[in-house]
Amino acid sequence: MYGIIDGKAISQAIKDEVKAEAEKLSETGRKPCLAVILVGSDPASAVYVGNKKKACEYCGFDSVSIEMPEETTEEEVLKKIAELNSDENVDGILVQLPLPKHINEDNVILAIDPSKDVDGFHPVNVGNLLIGRDGFVSCTPAGIIELLKRSDVDIQGKECVVVGRSNIVGKPMAVLMLRENATVTVCHSRTKDLKEVTKRADILIVAIGKPRLITKEYVKDGAVVIDVGIHRTENKKLCGDVDFDDVCERTSLITPVPGGVGPMTIAMLMKNTLISFKNRTGR
Ligand code: GUN
Repeated sequence: MYGIIDGKAISQAIKDEVKAEAEKLSETGRKPCLAVILVGSDPASAVYVGNKKKACEYCGFDSVSIEMPEETTEEEVLKKIAELNSDENVDGILVQLPLPKHINEDNVILAIDPSKDVDGFHPVNVGNLLIGRDGFVSCTPAGIIELLKRSDVDIQGKECVVVGRSNIVGKPMAVLMLRENATVTVCHSRTKDLKEVTKRADILIVAIGKPRLITKEYVKDGAVVIDVGIHRTENKKLCGDVDFDDVCERTSLITPVPGGVGPMTIAMLMKNTLISFKNRTGR
């Protein structure tokens, strides 16, 4: 029998902890504040930004929502970021990705004050993570560590295989698991015999962006399987990078899609914003 890691419940618990702490800390002054910049009208991005705003409301945070049209220039975005950097009432700045093609994402991320980079995308924060210094950690991989810890998964000494090497998930995930003393292997689309590698995993984390790629032949008996993917199938249902129905019986614990990793990202964004608020107010 396998267990399901309930990301919805765990993310709710984290938001409730953040809300309680934010309430206590803002009794005598301002509230934590997250600024979100959305450029263009990508419908999926608009939904994500809306969900971030709702989470701020739930946690008792202020939020500033900056919506800029598709044709906004890079300079205009950079100017807005500079304003938010120097706004003492703003704790977190998030620029929703992807940006329109004429705007260079690297330049935009570099413009954000690392002490307000609650997404953990700025190279200063990425570097701090790599060498084990304090800083903001990308929300999805940070959320996966919370899922594992709150599900009492022992990480130390375990074989962890991360499938995917993106800057936002795969790479920081590998570093975080290393920090927890796992033995970490990173695989990707060019890995020669993916199955042979993933079958070694006690903890298998999949963020490769291919619907239902991982079937039971890829999974060791009793493994913990974390699925970061989210895709819409032909019949409009949601699925992950893992073929849940095929794999579940082989696992000890597995995250569902939806309701696994997904809800954790926003919960960790709220947690990072609260940390920034505490750093900047000394409360
Ligand atoms: N687009 C998709 N996921 C994310 C995220 O976590 N942060 C930002 N800024 N943009 C995204």
